[in-house]
Amino acid sequence: MDLKIKIGKLKLENPVILASGTAGFGKEMKDFIDINKLGAIVTKTITLNKRKGNPPPRVIETPGGLLNSIGLDNGGLKDFMFEKISFLENLKIPVIVSIAGDTIDEFVELARELSKARCIRAIEINLSCPNIRHKNTKFPLLAQDRRAVEKIISRLRKTTTNTLIAKLSPNVADIKEIAKAAEHAGADAISLINTYPGMLVDINTMKPKLGGVTGGLSGPSVKPLALKCVRDAYNAVNIPVIGMGGIMDARDAVEFFICGASAIQIGTANFVNPGVSLEILEGIKEYLKKKKIKAIKNLIGKLKI
Ligand SMILES: Cc1cc2nc3c(=O)[nH]c(=O)nc-3n(C[C@H](O)[C@H](O)[C@H](O)COP(=O)(O)O)c2cc1C
Repeated sequence: MDLKIKIGKLKLENPVILASGTAGFGKEMKDFIDINKLGAIVTKTITLNKRKGNPPPRVIETPGGLLNSIGLDNGGLKDFMFEKISFLENLKIPVIVSIAGDTIDEFVELARELSKARCIRAIEINLSCPNIRHKNTKFPLLAQDRRAVEKIISRLRKTTTNTLIAKLSPNVADIKEIAKAAEHAGADAISLINTYPGMLVDINTMKPKLGGVTGGLSGPSVKPLALKCVRDAYNAVNIPVIGMGGIMDARDAVEFFICGASAIQIGTANFVNPGVSLEILEGIKEYLKKKKIKAIKNLIGKLKI
């Protein structure tokens, strides 16, 4: 059975990837799964400078998933290059580093420095974190501003030959327009969805339940939203679409391939069962076998309407 997939210059042995922010920098997962059996791993988003993130509580369970306002808590580029990278260097699978900047220049500096590291083969550009504000746009999210998306990706395209993946938000009027802008500016792939902005209130104190007031919703409740975004993006662009949002098992994953995802990322499900990504991989193989589909490529975008 052929599970191989190409995303830009990346060659993945299989299409199952750990999503940013839900698997740390790989080391956090090593006691639970053999990471080398996955297709790839995306790191927690890193920024140029250290970020403290938002005040607690930062994560709340909802009936259909999680609401988080981590606020991109991370040790910054130096911490990544001197500390976090050592575990990733020894992995046999492609390492995708997620980056976010307060300005375009910060995105560029991150990409330039990361491109010097041999183990880093791809960059996921986080244009869609609902927990931070960006200086180069009037919109709440970069991924809502077609021009900002174009500007950032074209600058990054000139900076690095690494595979560039644009991570988009479901919280837009027309995902097709944003996906096309990313492709036009030189992105090798689109990944979506990031979390959907939301909030919860404690009725006794009448205060927001999250320390950051609002946060991002993920998990099963966003799956239908994510599937539609994946399908719309798949119909709009000619570059691969990496799908995520509420994938809890192999059946969910297969829905994403049928809607047009070339690969999938597992996020919230890792918190329920850190071994779930490899179980999902096995389930995908079983499905293909049952349906007598020889290659995962033959399942992508096979939605019948
Ligand atoms: C606790 C938590 C932290 C996250 N941190 C990041 C992050 O740093 N960068 C990023 O691009 N996405 C981040 N995400 C979003 C996920 O990568 C993913 O896009 C989203 O959760 C939807 O997938 P899921 O429903 O499978 O979790 C985070 C999600 C959660 C739940």
